[in-house]
Amino acid sequence: MTLLIINIKELLQVRDSNITIVKGADMKILPTLKDAYVLIDHDTIVEFGPMIECTNIEADETIDATGKTVLPTWCDSHTHIVYAGNRTQEFVDRINGLSYEQITNRGGGILNSAEQLQNTTEEDLYQQASKRIIEVIKMGTGAIEIKSGYGLTVEAELKMLRVIKRLKHDFPILVKATLLAAHALPKAFKNDKNSFVDLIVKEMIPKVSAQDLAHYIDVFCEIGYFDLEDTERILKAAAKHRLVPKIHVNQFNAFGGIALAVEYDALSVDHLEELNPEDILALQNSKTIPVALPSCSYFLGIPYTPGRELIDAGLPLALASDYNPGSSPSGNMNFVVSAACIKMKLTPEEAINAATINGAYAMGISNRYGSICRGKKANLIITKPITSYHYLPYAFGDNHIDTVIINGQVF
Ligand code: NIG
Ligand code: FE
Repeated sequence: MTLLIINIKELLQVRDSNITIVKGADMKILPTLKDAYVLIDHDTIVEFGPMIECTNIEADETIDATGKTVLPTWCDSHTHIVYAGNRTQEFVDRINGLSYEQITNRGGGILNSAEQLQNTTEEDLYQQASKRIIEVIKMGTGAIEIKSGYGLTVEAELKMLRVIKRLKHDFPILVKATLLAAHALPKAFKNDKNSFVDLIVKEMIPKVSAQDLAHYIDVFCEIGYFDLEDTERILKAAAKHRLVPKIHVNQFNAFGGIALAVEYDALSVDHLEELNPEDILALQNSKTIPVALPSCSYFLGIPYTPGRELIDAGLPLALASDYNPGSSPSGNMNFVVSAACIKMKLTPEEAINAATINGAYAMGISNRYGSICRGKKANLIITKPITSYHYLPYAFGDNHIDTVIINGQVF
């Protein structure tokens, strides 16, 4: 089965060689081809080029993209889309003056979601998450990382991870699973954090690994949640099971979590709303990519990750949605790209690089996803007719997507 897309007004993120990350000043460069075509064979991009070279190509199906822009689908490297219910009451409470921290301290927040999830059947949880995954695919997401972390018991964490495994099997987009057992301290361990970390280290990590339910390990490394010592114990145990770290860090406080994550060869460090010069130093000369989550900053009214500073320091940056019920109840990567331009002062080129190739890097898949490259997965967004790709982040809040192609097929 071959699919030919012709008359593309502009084809974005075209790469002749298979680069897997873009950093620093290179992030301003988004290679494009005007008046272009793409040829897909089954699920793979096999050729692309200017229309004048599109001669004698026969395909089973042709899409005419006159006036439209084509780009790789978004790679959303940080989500929590498997959750039960919602937290609209806390949303209203925050509007009325309570802070995220105050809500957490009175037993709400992550513990509220954990209680709802524990009381939800695996089937119901799967149905709720399925709706969200369909919704994000329609908004252009072609690969997604999904975390556990609203279970907080061995059984409920395994339940979440089994749901993620089922989503991976049932939907055409690529799914990567992360064990985030250390997301909050459950009520049962209120005054005994060490025993909960013991449970993670001695029982959860080995079980998850034995059942092959996760690729990555995450910890909410934050004051009031898990400190450097807890984080290190978990990363050490995870390393024995080859679970690679992707860490929630520097959301509210900067206290050395980034350097620790780098020391344990983290693939990514995520959030970074609070950042100090030592954090930037730790990231330089490392393979760890910083990930910004602007929807979370928008929703909670907290600072935006200083993405400009990170890029200007020569670092790479990825963007992700953080889709979750408490701090970002949206998986719309188009909004994420827009917010990065508007609030973090990324150029459209930087933001698109951050949400495609660098997003793919942040979930360990950038050799096959995140750019228009021969041999890569045919996961593409075809926009509605737009004047230029700058229009995508500029006209925020509108849906500019006409068609989403996943594995060479219209979704
Ligand atoms: O990434 N910061 C930790 N975890 C989630 C939010 C958790 C919640 O409030 O449910 C985040 O923002
Ligand atoms: Fe998160």
